[in-house]
Amino acid sequence: MWPARQGGRPDRATSAGIVKRSGATAAMSVTRTGIEPSISDAEEIHAACWFSLEQVKEHPEVTQVMAQLEEPCSSSGRKERSEWRGSTYHAPGRLLAALWREAPHPVSTSMSTMAFYDQLAPFYHLIYADWNASIGRQAGALDTIIKEYWPDSIKTVLDVACGIGTQALGLAQLGYTVTGSDLSSAAIDVAQREAAARGFSLDLSVADMRVAYLHHQKQFDLVIACDNSVSHLLTDAELLQAFQQFYACTRPGGGCLISVRDYEQEDRTGIQVKPYGIRTEGQTRYVPFQVWEFRPDGRMYDLTMYLIEDRGGASCDTHVMRTQYYAVEIGRLMSLLMQAGFQEVQRLDDRLFQPVILGRRPEG
Ligand SMILES: C[S@@+](CC[C@H](N)C(=O)[O-])C[C@H]1O[C@@H](n2cnc3c(N)ncnc32)[C@H](O)[C@@H]1O
Repeated sequence: MWPARQGGRPDRATSAGIVKRSGATAAMSVTRTGIEPSISDAEEIHAACWFSLEQVKEHPEVTQVMAQLEEPCSSSGRKERSEWRGSTYHAPGRLLAALWREAPHPVSTSMSTMAFYDQLAPFYHLIYADWNASIGRQAGALDTIIKEYWPDSIKTVLDVACGIGTQALGLAQLGYTVTGSDLSSAAIDVAQREAAARGFSLDLSVADMRVAYLHHQKQFDLVIACDNSVSHLLTDAELLQAFQQFYACTRPGGGCLISVRDYEQEDRTGIQVKPYGIRTEGQTRYVPFQVWEFRPDGRMYDLTMYLIEDRGGASCDTHVMRTQYYAVEIGRLMSLLMQAGFQEVQRLDDRLFQPVILGRRPEG
């Protein structure tokens, strides 16, 4: 028996997104007796997944998979090899993506989130009316908060959900030494290209924020996760695990800064449409909008992002991406940050486009 999967199985469209991202053609078959990957563009399929020591001990099939993950694979120009880090086995996810489709395994919600952001990466900037202006505006707002709460003491920043770099690029331009990681390798590729286009390089890699310390293995002055990234973790236990890893990544006296949607201000019922307006690039018109469908208890919702790409012909392309969010209240996030060890946890309103939560790791 495979270990029971936590969370739901993604629908076929979502799982297909994992293996067909960016036009890569991939075919894999997974059986209980072995894995036969036939991946024409293996490097396109990359994820950070892990098995815990207990799961490996209990399930010999996992050991079998691990043996097949030994070949190093590269993402964003960085060679990665599966390895033990403490009691966690950290593996490139190209084969695990196949497992996700065919057999239950211990990776919970991260696969569908990864597929969502991998598909969205080339279009992510369209969420903003002017992405470049937003990079500058957000960096300015974050810099003011940082200087106010940690005067002159923040030089190194770890962005554990950097995506295509909306905050990481702006903070780097302001002189911070920024390290970024994200679940989506396609988003990391975009961030890498955007940094190069601006004439600097960022230390970027693919990692799940729930294993941020296991991945980075060092401490920073400040750990950030902006634009509601933490709400992709669907349970309090997952959030606490991530916050504990943020804490481990924070040097004593340093801090944590997250920005989140204020779900208490949202109608958390039924089905809602959230349009972004029209975006135009060259001759192409894009119409992005989201559909939110709340579960009956109002705690979780399924989000579908539709992006209509209209080049002026008789028909147009529609990209469809699906993910889930936990409509977690800010008070609950603050209490989980405190449980993880952060002190002086506080909420700031009207400083960024979203409420900001700050915490400090005590000295010594
Ligand atoms: C709304 S985007 C924000 C990205 C970036 N901060 C920005 O503003 O452009 C949310 C990001 O969280 C990342 N994410 C979601 N779950 C994650 C996880 N478990 N570990 C690391 N990153 C994750 C997604 O891949 C995505 O890039």
